Amino acid sequence: MIGIGLERLLYLVAAVLFITGLKQLQSPETARKGNQISALGMLLAIVITLLSAKTMTYGTIMAGLLVGGGIGLYLARSVAMTSMPQMVALLNGVGGGSSLLVATAEFLHMYEKGEAATVDVALSTHLGVLIGAVTLTGSAIAWAKLQEVMTGKAITFGGQMTVNGLLFAVIAGLAAWLIMVPTAPLWAFYALIGLSLLLGVLLVIPIGGADMPVVISLLNSYSGIAAAMTGFVIKSEVLVISGALVGSSGIILSQIMCKAMNRSLGNVLFGASGATAGKSTKSSEGLTVASTNVEEAALQLAYAQQVIIVPGYGLAVAQAQHQVRELMDLIEKRGGTVKFAIHPVAGRMPGHMNVLLAEANIPYDKLIDMDDINPEFERTDVCLVIGANDVVNPAARTDASSPIFGMPILNADQAKRCIVMKRGMSAGFAGIENELFYNPKTQMLFGDAKGTLSKLVAEVKQV
Ligand code: TAP
Repeated sequence: MIGIGLERLLYLVAAVLFITGLKQLQSPETARKGNQISALGMLLAIVITLLSAKTMTYGTIMAGLLVGGGIGLYLARSVAMTSMPQMVALLNGVGGGSSLLVATAEFLHMYEKGEAATVDVALSTHLGVLIGAVTLTGSAIAWAKLQEVMTGKAITFGGQMTVNGLLFAVIAGLAAWLIMVPTAPLWAFYALIGLSLLLGVLLVIPIGGADMPVVISLLNSYSGIAAAMTGFVIKSEVLVISGALVGSSGIILSQIMCKAMNRSLGNVLFGASGATAGKSTKSSEGLTVASTNVEEAALQLAYAQQVIIVPGYGLAVAQAQHQVRELMDLIEKRGGTVKFAIHPVAGRMPGHMNVLLAEANIPYDKLIDMDDINPEFERTDVCLVIGANDVVNPAARTDASSPIFGMPILNADQAKRCIVMKRGMSAGFAGIENELFYNPKTQMLFGDAKGTLSKLVAEVKQV
């Protein structure tokens, strides 16, 4: 048991550790350390909570810790990198669900005792319930869409926005009733929970596959806001601070992703377009594709002074990060410079390419953000596009009818030569043609990225 003064001081230390950790997540060089510092803050917060006078039942807590920790360990070790968005969706849902349960327990506790909560606590309780419930079911739908348990397309029906608006108005009405009349019947509270769960489903079903990562980041933000509300209810400053940090960083990430995909947040949430966005009117009919082979590509790479590698989703699918590293080492040993051009939405989750390339210990200073690398393409001898498609599609600049028009892209077409590695002529995520493949400066090197890269490595060694 520790005194209340010491308890609050230690919670403050934990909050400072969270903020310091978050700050360090800004850069890949310090991100690991940032994670460790935040984890230390969380450990401290848990220990203080366990030692605080409020903690009575260690047995139940231990059982929860073992079951939850065991499931978490299993999931973290077994999940494939490409399934990370689903995993994050599940974790957000669990976070929202916890806030829902805590706020519900606090409400029922006070209701049974016949105590009336102050308006601020009552408001926080109902907001915790509403946002927690929306996060729980919204995340479950997001998981089901990404896991392809249900259709990933937008599910829409007439008057959807009106139904959602009415539902929200009823929830707000119930909350107002419960706040103003503490003796209001208990069914009103249960109705508030049920309708909030329904609202979570209805808010996420009209969002299509392409927009799901933005929604997941937004749900992450909701889970933080729900936790912050619960923090007000149980008077835990550390929960308020950590919830606010998650809430605000989730919103910032959602905005960054929207900008990189040339969408507005309102358009993602209420546009009901996503993967079903309009198709480009441009076609590749009559255009020809030049292909190359491993020997020719190896020669170009071996003699290039500067090579920019553009990694994309296909590199993650092929799990060819180690082969890329080998190729980079070989080119650099021969005196060439190799840089990686990182598009903010390459792959299928934020930071996907950074994580993938870090697995192969590619130095962080080789990973250059889009705005910094774009001016360099013009003076680059070979741009090697590996499993990327939409993020190098010039239609984003030139074709106003394209669903990706306006999205900032990597200027691969401005390099002196471009070699594109992919298995065939399939479209990328946006489902559209890519005129880069038909550019006279481009040569296609067909095949699975891992197999082709292994052959390239062997060939460059021979040059
Ligand atoms: P994509 O445009 O999806 O293209 C990936 C390409 O990789 C495909 O055209 C595919 O062509 C190729 N490929 C697949 N498996 C391969 C393999 N084993 N070996 C070689 N190539 C392979 O990828 P991108 O350029 O990274 O763009 C990402 C897209 O996802 C953007 O449209 C973005 O808006 C969207 N998105 C991103 C995120 C985040 S947060 N990163 C979230 C949601 C959506 P083949 O089948 O012909 O090989």
